[in-house]
Amino acid sequence: MRTPTPSVFIQGIGAYKPERRLTNEDLSCIVETSDEWIRTRSGISERHIAAPGETVADMGAAAARDAIRNANIPPEAIDLVVVATISAPSSVPSTACRIQQKLGLRPDIPAFDVAAACSGFLYLLQIANLMLRAGDYRHALIIASEQLSGIVDWQDRTTCVLFGDGAGAAVVSKCDVPYVGILGNVLGADGTKGDLLAVNLRTGPKPESVAGLPVGNHVISMNGKEVFKNAVRVMSHSCRAVLKKCDVSVEQISLIIPHQANMRIIEAIADELQVGLERVKINLDRYGNTSAASIPIALEEAWQEGRIKNGDLVLLVAFGGGFTWGSTLIKWYQPEKT
Ligand code: UT7
Repeated sequence: MRTPTPSVFIQGIGAYKPERRLTNEDLSCIVETSDEWIRTRSGISERHIAAPGETVADMGAAAARDAIRNANIPPEAIDLVVVATISAPSSVPSTACRIQQKLGLRPDIPAFDVAAACSGFLYLLQIANLMLRAGDYRHALIIASEQLSGIVDWQDRTTCVLFGDGAGAAVVSKCDVPYVGILGNVLGADGTKGDLLAVNLRTGPKPESVAGLPVGNHVISMNGKEVFKNAVRVMSHSCRAVLKKCDVSVEQISLIIPHQANMRIIEAIADELQVGLERVKINLDRYGNTSAASIPIALEEAWQEGRIKNGDLVLLVAFGGGFTWGSTLIKWYQPEKT
């Protein structure tokens, strides 16, 4: 499949991870768990936790500044801001509007949030792709920022060991070079399975804070086993669907960047696609599951490590609450810096 020009590509990528690290050992002082259980069941060793007072918008703004710097454009060139988050402390003003204000972006551009849980960044890529192709916009700023420490129940060992905080961002731009950037995108959702992974208002009294961790008004609940099975099936299927749509074989893919939820899920997908793990980006051992932020954080890291070069085919795949999912195929392209 040949995408019509203009092409839409990631011009700059950025990430932000808060300073504080919470190790599995630290968690074993909070709930009845062990480093061994967490590592063998999930692959996670530690996660980052936002500082007191550090918000979803603060983290998103830091990642966005990094992305704008790497895109080598002035902030005034941004025409559109879209944010993916499920953990912002307020819904209005949107986190996108808060970040627009924090970065001093033009005050007349559209800015809005999207709630698609762990698939959020891939939803943003498609929104930016379509809005840039259809509209007068040239540069979209897309940001995924999550403070899951604020919506985790720190007394529930079945969920609290899995999640972390962080943000990733990208400047998505259009250009006249044919067949580069976003080649294809498959998104989906199944609301009938929504209750298997949900964020609801807390019922019952609020517990005391432990180890300086936040206690929010909302909490995550999850049927881990069901989510696991669905994640493997749907992510493998959506990878195949986007490859078919773009007429690309799995052998042609240089790097797969999956949502970082569980090492066993990632291994099962790689196995199903018959791809060696050397072609899969994995960093969940250090960050845990950061929901929408996990893919851009991993993408930024892979780019920093020099694992992505111009012309490489990169496959992004996500699955999350809703259920929601998505796969995006990118032909990496960045113009020469002048
Ligand atoms: O972002 C997308 C959404 N999230 C995911 O993709 C997560 C999907 N699910 C998972 O990653 C896995 O299901 C988990 C890591 C959450 C759990 O792994 P599991 O192999 O499915 O374990 P389990 O829930 O079946 O629990 C096994 C045992 C249970 O004890 P019993 O009933 O066998 O005696 C649990 O009570 O492990 C116990 N357990 C723990 N033990 C120590 C559960 N959590 C913990 C814990 N530490 N933190």
